[in-house]
Parts: sequence; C-alpha cells; structure tokens
Amino acid sequence: MRTLERFGLPLAVYVGAALPLVGLVWNLASNPLLADPIRASILWTGKTALILLVLTLASTPVNTVFGWRAVLRVRRALGLSAFAYAALHFLIFVGVDYAFDPALLGEAIGRQTYVLLGLGAGVILFLLALTSTQGWKKRLGHKWKRLHQGIYFAAPLAIAHFVWLVKVDIREPLAYGAIVAALLLVRVPWLRARVSQVRYRWQSRAEPARMERGEK
Ligand code: HEM
Repeated sequence: MRTLERFGLPLAVYVGAALPLVGLVWNLASNPLLADPIRASILWTGKTALILLVLTLASTPVNTVFGWRAVLRVRRALGLSAFAYAALHFLIFVGVDYAFDPALLGEAIGRQTYVLLGLGAGVILFLLALTSTQGWKKRLGHKWKRLHQGIYFAAPLAIAHFVWLVKVDIREPLAYGAIVAALLLVRVPWLRARVSQVRYRWQSRAEPARMERGEK
C-alpha cells in the first residue's frame, strides 16, 4: 500500500498530466487548416500550466480540510508538470513565435507587461523545479521551505499575466484568481488551525458512529 502511494500516485499524475499534451498534438495533427496553430499551442500550454499550478497549490489545503495525506505525495509531481507546461509555453513563444530573435523579444518584454509577469512566474517555477530534489532539500536545510513558498508568488503572477493579456472579458482569469486567493487564505495559520479543529471534531464524532455500524 505504501509503495503504491509513494510511486503509483505520482506516476498516475505524470500520466494524467501528459494527456493535455497528447490532446494538443492530436488537435494540431488532425486540423492542418487551423487558423493560428502557434497561438493555439501557446494558449493551450499556458492554460494547462495554470491549472496544474492551481492543483499544486491545492494539495496542502485539501489535506488540511479533508485530512487526505495522500495528496501530499502528488504535490511534487503536480508542480513539476506545471513547470514542464510553463517551459513548453515559453519555448513555443520564444522559439517558434519569435524565432529566438533577441531584438523582437526585447521589444515584446519591454512593451507587453503581461510577458514580464509571465516571465516572473516562469523564473520562480524554474527555481522551484530545479531545487525540488532530495539533494537540494538537504543542501538548503531550513531555507528550502522558504524558497518553496515562492509558489505563493508564482501563482498570483501567473494570474496577473492572464488578467493582463485578456483585454475584454476578464471573468475567466478572475475565477482562477478567486480560487488561488481562497487556497492562499486557508494557509493563514489562524484559519488553518480553525479548519483543522473543525475537521478533528467532525472526525471524532463520525468515528464512533462508523464503529457502531460495523464499518472499518
Ligand atoms: C515564461 C514566460 C511566459 C511567457 C513569455 C508567456 C507568454 C504568453 C503569451 C504570448 C500568451 C498568449 C497571448 C495571446 O496571444 O493572447 C500567453 C497566454 C497565457 N499564459 Fe503565458 N507566458 C509565460 C509564462 C506563463 C506561466 C508561468 C503561466 C502559468 C503558470 C502562463 C499562463 C498563461 C495563460 C493561462 C495564458 C492564456 C491562455 C488562454 O487565454 O486560454 N504563462 N502567455
């Protein structure tokens, strides 16, 4: 059971996280007349990176609210998958859309605030992915946790990137923003302690009732 939790759950996350990429490749291959395949790929990888980032951020609150410790086992796999899509998103933008042209890229970064915000989120995700190994955890000691709290900045930056680039209807990025705000709020120590208290009380009430019914 432990081995399944330790290796099986992260593996399932990596397989699940690869599906949007398969979907993108399938869509591009089966629609050769797609109006703007580069833009479609940038949007698809950006959205997937954001969803995976939100899921990464949700792991700890899900454990706090429901007591499902198993989700903590998939946190790293979710974070690395979010980074992989952000890296792909960045590479399509820089390599395919801008053909690695430093002059054009410099202009885009200087002129478009949303590119700068995306870069900020991307750099944080890169640092977190790089230092996510056990070796870096040992090397950095107590500083590791501080560094990995960088996700609290990466997620709002990614949301700001999304809000900035959507010029008319900002309801979708705002919905993601509200989810991220709620997930960050549950981490406030006072609220986290209250939520855990309510869960313990609810669990200790549910336990005798379950035993009476003869459930395990
Ligand atoms: C690393 C630097 C980044 C660059 C240069 C970049 C660039 C872009 C560009 C050019 C677009 C398309 C704009 C358009 O044509 O309308 C876009 C959209 C988007 N990006 Fe990024 N981005 C970066 C990082 C990120 C990160 C880290 C995330 C999330 C974790 C992200 C999430 C999104 C989302 C959600 C969209 C909009 C998708 C949609 O409208 O469906 N981006 N980005």
